[in-house]
Formats: sequence, structure tokens, C-alpha cells
Amino acid sequence: MSDITVIKTPIKEEMKEFEPFFKEQLKSKIPLLDIITNYVLRRKGKQMRPMLVFLSAKLNGETSQSSYIAAALIELLHTATLIHDDVVDETYQRRGFFSINALWKSKVAVLVGDFFLSKGLSLSLNTGQIDVLKVVSNAVSEMAEGELLQIEKSRKLDITEDVYYQIIRKKTATLIAACTQAGALSVNASEEQLTNMAEFGENLGIAFQIRDDLFDYEQNGLIGKPTGNDIKEKKLTLPLIYALNKVDRITQRNILRLIRRHHKNEKKVQEIIAFVKANNGIEYATQKMEEYAQKAKDNLAHYADSETKTALLTMVDYTLKRKK
Ligand code: IPE
Ligand code: IPE
Ligand code: MG
Ligand code: MG
Repeated sequence: MSDITVIKTPIKEEMKEFEPFFKEQLKSKIPLLDIITNYVLRRKGKQMRPMLVFLSAKLNGETSQSSYIAAALIELLHTATLIHDDVVDETYQRRGFFSINALWKSKVAVLVGDFFLSKGLSLSLNTGQIDVLKVVSNAVSEMAEGELLQIEKSRKLDITEDVYYQIIRKKTATLIAACTQAGALSVNASEEQLTNMAEFGENLGIAFQIRDDLFDYEQNGLIGKPTGNDIKEKKLTLPLIYALNKVDRITQRNILRLIRRHHKNEKKVQEIIAFVKANNGIEYATQKMEEYAQKAKDNLAHYADSETKTALLTMVDYTLKRKK
């Protein structure tokens, strides 16, 4: 059985019902908005977040209406941040096709992102569970903070490994932890189960973003978004941070100068990528990613074996192996 099949088996029904439920949230009478939301809906992503909500709910009880609301709410917010992120990162490709900002310009993308956010807000009014809302809204402010901290660091180019983890925890891991927490909350899990699920989500989320940052150094053609883009945006991620820490000050200065002055120059970007590879940046980041993945698996150690637990463990493996 493929990883995806193992992951989806326990939540097949839920994911089937989720699709129309998610669609339902995005109705609009404004033709331009309708065209764009349909465009977005036709290119759904991996839907890892809703899957995590349902799996986490199942691991700790039975999925409820509240699980659906949490799943849709989080996927709406996630989609909104991707639409905004492509404006921020000036990226013209997403999920294998043109990004909203590429097709309709940045101003439209900003407003469509806001529309998704607001639809998330209205949906959250339907949840009787203020605790789910708390976790998710906290994640959204963490994301904005993470993205801003990242921009600050790309201006100064003084990012350390510690700050890197702080950024990815905020911009990615907190929302993934919100999925697993919301799932557990939606079935009234115990305090201890909640802590386990929160830690599981956070560790998985960190591994997930390191994997994403590694994509930037690859060219597998399946990712559906451009590579080499992080350097073009002066975003220093773990492979590069590690390589820079390893070399002497003069080399460090030279590479930083390349990044500062020539980050939009394709040839120089390739030079920087080669520098990272020559200094084992990829191996190091891969090793760290595996460490966080192991921590995530350990967080599930107290649960009895079940189809759902296997699905979650497989989700961890899939996060490392995935090609998009
Ligand atoms: C992309 O998330 C943004 C990051 C946090 C790296 P996903 O890789 O889950 O995006 P989709 O939803 O599958 O497109
Ligand atoms: C994703 O960071 C973080 C978000 C909160 C969207 P990236 O900028 O690395 O995400 P991709 O690579 O564009 O999906
Ligand atoms: Mg981006
Ligand atoms: Mg990325």
C-alpha cells in the first residue's frame, strides 16, 4: 500500500465529506471572486492539515461536526496564507500552476487572501468550541510574526540556527500543531492527550518546513512551485545557515556579499547552491529533519497500536519522503 493510502484509509469518509463542506464556505456573488475561488478549488493541495485534524480526532475519540469545522477553518487560513505568501515571495507558481498574483496581480491576490481569511472567521462563528478558535487564532498571529521575523532577517542576513527554528516554528509548525490540537479538542481529549498531540504537531511541522526548505535546493519537477526562490528572496534556510557557520570568515563574507548583491542573478544563485552542497548543508538539514520526525513519532508512543496511529506515523515518514 502506498503511504497516501495508509494515511487516508482511516479517514476516507471524512475526507469525502470534507470536500463539499470546504467548497460551501467559499461562495460569493462577485464574479471575479467566484472565478478565482473556483480556480483555487480546482488545484487543491495535499490537504495534509485537514487530514491531520481528522486523524488526531480519531486517535483520541470519534470525529464530530466540530472536527469538520476545525479542518475547514484551518485549510481556509492555510490557503489564505499561501495566496499572501506568493505575493510576499514574488512567486509565480503554486500547486503546479500559476499563482493568483501571477494571473491577477498582487492587489487581487491580497484581497482574495483576505476573503479566504474572512470566510474562515465566519465559519469559526459556527463552532461552539472557543478552545479550538483560541488555538487557531494564536497560530495565525504566530504565522504573521514568523513571516515578519523572516523578512527582518533577510534584510540583515544575520540569522542563526536558533532563530531559524524560531521562524519555522512560528510560520509553519504552530498551524500544524493547531491541526492536531484542534482534532483532539474536537473530541474532548484529556489534558495529557492534548499536550501529546500539540507536541506531535509541532515536531512534525518543523520537519515539514525543513523538508520544504530542502526543496528549494532540488529540481525534481514535481514540486509545483519554483526552486532556488529562497535565495532570490535572501531567505537563509538551514542548509545555507549551516554551510555559512562552517567556513572561515572570509568565505562567509564572500558568500554573504553574493547574497546581498546578486541574489536575483541566476548564475550567482547556482554558485551559492553549489557552496551549500559542497559544505554538506543538505546532509545536515536532512539529519535535523529526521531528528524532529523521530521526536514526533516518540510523541505517539503512549497510544495503543491502531490503524489511525499507523496513519499518523506514516504521515511523518511521508513528510520526509514526499516529492511535493
Ligand atoms: C506549503 O504548505 C507552505 C508551507 C508551510 C511550506 P503545503 O506544502 O502543505 O501546501 P499545499 O496545501 O499542499 O499546497
Ligand atoms: C511557507 O514558507 C510559510 C507560510 C506560512 C506560507 P515558504 O515561503 O517556504 O512556503 P512556500 O515554499 O512558498 O510554499
Ligand atoms: Mg513562499
Ligand atoms: Mg518554501
